[in-house]
Amino acid sequence: MERRRLIKAGAAGAALLLTQGVAGADSYNKTLAKRKINTLTNKKNPSVLEKKHVPLVEAPKSVKKGQWFKVRVKVGFMIEHPSKPDHWIDRIELQMNGKRVSEMVNVVGGITSPNAYFEIRLNRSGDVKLEAVANCNLHGTWLSEPIHIRVA
Ligand SMILES: [Fe+2]
Repeated sequence: MERRRLIKAGAAGAALLLTQGVAGADSYNKTLAKRKINTLTNKKNPSVLEKKHVPLVEAPKSVKKGQWFKVRVKVGFMIEHPSKPDHWIDRIELQMNGKRVSEMVNVVGGITSPNAYFEIRLNRSGDVKLEAVANCNLHGTWLSEPIHIRVA
């Protein structure tokens, strides 16, 4: 009898976790949609803030369909962003054709790098646009310049 009660309680707990997980993801996606995203406004003469916050995406120019390849994201594209206990890059996401496909989260500043490494594969032939979005805990969210990859 006791065992049956525990199984029921466990199932209810799992259902609750699943519900909360989905609700949390929806809430997070809504937050993403509302955020102000900064971009590189003056490519010939970027500001110091832009040099330190606009991410740079590095990946092969062409890849084979279905094969894993590495993507590196550096923040920023000209000057490395600091990593201090009170000022750091707390999130770097990778976007493919404008959609978020992967993300790295740095929970603590000072010991985490302003770089992210992803490994992805593309399963369709054609051209793909990759971009990165980085978030600084003090200076907001920043979008990289796009790069284009040929998948053959
Ligand atoms: Fe910053």
